[in-house]
Amino acid sequence: MTSTNEIRRSFLDYFGRNGHTPTASAPLVPYNDPTLMFVNAGMVPFKNVFTGLETPASPRAASSQKCVRAGGKHNDLDNVGYTARHHTFFEMLGNFSFGDYFKEEAIAHAWTLLTKEWGLPEDRLTVTVYHTDDEAHALWRKIAGIPDDRIIRIPTSDNFWSMGDTGPCGPCSEIFYDHGDHIFGGPPGSPDEDGDRFVEIWNLVFMQYEQQVDGARRDLPKPSIDTGMGIERIAAVLQGVHDNYDTDTFKALISASEVLTGVGAAGEHAASHRVIADHLRSTSFLMADGVLPCDARFGFDGGP
Ligand code: ALA
Repeated sequence: MTSTNEIRRSFLDYFGRNGHTPTASAPLVPYNDPTLMFVNAGMVPFKNVFTGLETPASPRAASSQKCVRAGGKHNDLDNVGYTARHHTFFEMLGNFSFGDYFKEEAIAHAWTLLTKEWGLPEDRLTVTVYHTDDEAHALWRKIAGIPDDRIIRIPTSDNFWSMGDTGPCGPCSEIFYDHGDHIFGGPPGSPDEDGDRFVEIWNLVFMQYEQQVDGARRDLPKPSIDTGMGIERIAAVLQGVHDNYDTDTFKALISASEVLTGVGAAGEHAASHRVIADHLRSTSFLMADGVLPCDARFGFDGGP
């Protein structure tokens, strides 16, 4: 079994060996972005680098970024506790190219790490591309040899990633892991895609544009790469379970929650224990980054 900590180390080592500067996670409260309450993706600390406002220390970086998705554009709150794969707090593993490499190297790195370094069976992997992105489609054929029926063209915003109403954006290619036909769900783009069988494990964003306040899209100074892989999802795959809440990190929290509440986690209380484990992670990491709960009956200054 590979622990979540070992997976994080292995990801950063792989990209470090391939010229990426390992970069510590930024705090959950963005220091440079009034459009966002909490960091919700690995690229957020690099937003100004993508748009050309800041010069990066290195043209390639890799990180495991603390993220919270509990409101706003990327919001998984209502699914938490009821699916195998959603959280309010999670860590996003990501590799970034700031005008250095583009689609071909991003796809090659993702494929090599998943199938060669980590040994995932190739036939369990399905990918999507934005419906007009013939280039990404051809690269998946060439680099990975994935058959046409497992390179699915998606015409919706699922395959055009944007940070928010404004900010860097571009077409993306998502990699899905098939947990097997004993789990309910269908491939991306099918009526049952929201089930837990085919789980998106990695999103490769081909950053090309900046969405502006007036609705216009301008080209970024240089085409760039932003990728994101939820460590909890890849931990489930590498630990041979289908449910993130059965991985090492969550099992420890759910056991503690059972002991403290005196209520078993199997059966009707399963979702409650999962919500407790999830929300404990969010509140702990948010408080560590200086976000304190307030009583909504009072103003933010604590007065009546
Ligand atoms: N920024 C991309 C995402 O959050 C990788 O999915």
